[in-house]
Amino acid sequence: MTGFNRRQFGKGIGAAALGAALGGQSATAQALATAPTAGAAADGLAFPSDFLWGCATAAYQIEGGVKEDGRGETVWDVYAHTPGKTTDGGTGDVACDSYHRYQEDIALLKALGAKSYRFSVAWSRIFPSGKGKPNQKGLDYYNRLVDGLLAAGIEPHMTLFHWDLPTGLQGGWQSRDTAYAFADYAGFMAGKMSDRVKHFMTVNELRCFTDLAYWNGNKAPALRLPMDQVNQVRHHGVLAHGLGVQAIRAHAKAGTQVGLADNATIFVPAIETPEHIEATKKAMREENAMFLTAIMEGRYIDSYLAAQGKDAPKVQAGDMKAIGSPLDFVSLNVYTSNTVRAADTASGYEILPHLANSPRMASPWLNVTPEALYWSIRTVSELWKPKKLYISENGCSADDPVAQDGKVYDADRVMYLRNYITHMHRAVSEGYPIQGYFLWSLMDNFEWEDGYTKLFGIHHVDFQTQKRTPKLSADWYRELIKANKLV
Ligand code: NOJ
Repeated sequence: MTGFNRRQFGKGIGAAALGAALGGQSATAQALATAPTAGAAADGLAFPSDFLWGCATAAYQIEGGVKEDGRGETVWDVYAHTPGKTTDGGTGDVACDSYHRYQEDIALLKALGAKSYRFSVAWSRIFPSGKGKPNQKGLDYYNRLVDGLLAAGIEPHMTLFHWDLPTGLQGGWQSRDTAYAFADYAGFMAGKMSDRVKHFMTVNELRCFTDLAYWNGNKAPALRLPMDQVNQVRHHGVLAHGLGVQAIRAHAKAGTQVGLADNATIFVPAIETPEHIEATKKAMREENAMFLTAIMEGRYIDSYLAAQGKDAPKVQAGDMKAIGSPLDFVSLNVYTSNTVRAADTASGYEILPHLANSPRMASPWLNVTPEALYWSIRTVSELWKPKKLYISENGCSADDPVAQDGKVYDADRVMYLRNYITHMHRAVSEGYPIQGYFLWSLMDNFEWEDGYTKLFGIHHVDFQTQKRTPKLSADWYRELIKANKLV
């Protein structure tokens, strides 16, 4: 019996029993909890019948075809072609060749039983230099993709900016004009696509295309700016999001849902007691002050402004209102998290470091912390009460040796996914408004500065032949989607 709907869900699954088994309950859980009904045990960790299972990718990581049909140059083309920047000199020139093989990729999704697909639009295919005259051939590609998805019964979730900034936008995110150019592009896409695309995400992972690109210097355009300029770049990022939301609303058909995909830094309480949970929520709000907190509250909180002092961003009238534009949903990219404990410090919390031997996957930054999927949903819900939440990315890199029979038996990835999804299930069963989950990634692809040395796909891609082969994790995900419960 998995056909129950979301209204019945809190009762049917026995939220009390599950929450207690996992170590305590939130107020929401207590409100929802009733005695388990007969048959609940047989459902195991089942999900509501309308839960949206999907996969995610991004344009520069999969499309290739970088010189085709008028696509303009982006900061990632330049970065990847700069010697020494990406591991093994990998570029997105060909990647998974999805620009030509998108039908094959739709077939992969269909074979999985995926209900939705999150992909991004390459801004420079639509406006080759970032603004000006639109390029019909670029638009045609996304029309073909969206129509193909809908014909296969798969819901398109469109991200408008996943880091591939057109180099024609002089000044990049250092320039305020880029935020306006983004809004024009976002409104244009909404006007063209919202008859078929019902979910738009403005930007993907603010921290990555601002801090990591303009401060740490390991993502394109690889600058290391002083703090006042970094804060201004961050401001232009959140402003682009806010102006983008307004432009989408102005041009989209009624019923269009708008949000963003952010990689807020996630915190998990060291011990699930009220004091550590409070400290965790505090850390969540303060450590994300320049990104998600600003977006959800429409202001920069005092502790952030005080900490930045003279380096704080220069804000113009109307900016914060735009940045805080109401959203239909918030999507979170969740890979890892940090443990927090309540502490006798000025902030009231301490973030505990990951140690050298903490469990991690193939990417050195990817500490395995399955509870992140529960606590991200819970802390965001309790702090800001979004109407709906999605997990727009979750997944992992793994070593992925190809076995003699040509298959990848990635049992470690299955272990990672099963554990994270178990914790997401707890959030569902406690009544938090989590609607869907996008696994990163549909297939192996270009992993930014790591080139092709860190692979996240549940389909193996032979980059010589472009053959896609389901890994063990794809078989597992197919069964999970079919059963609509943990398998
Ligand atoms: C998040 C990014 O959005 C995506 O582009 C990247 O490949 C994955 N993390 C894995 O690092």
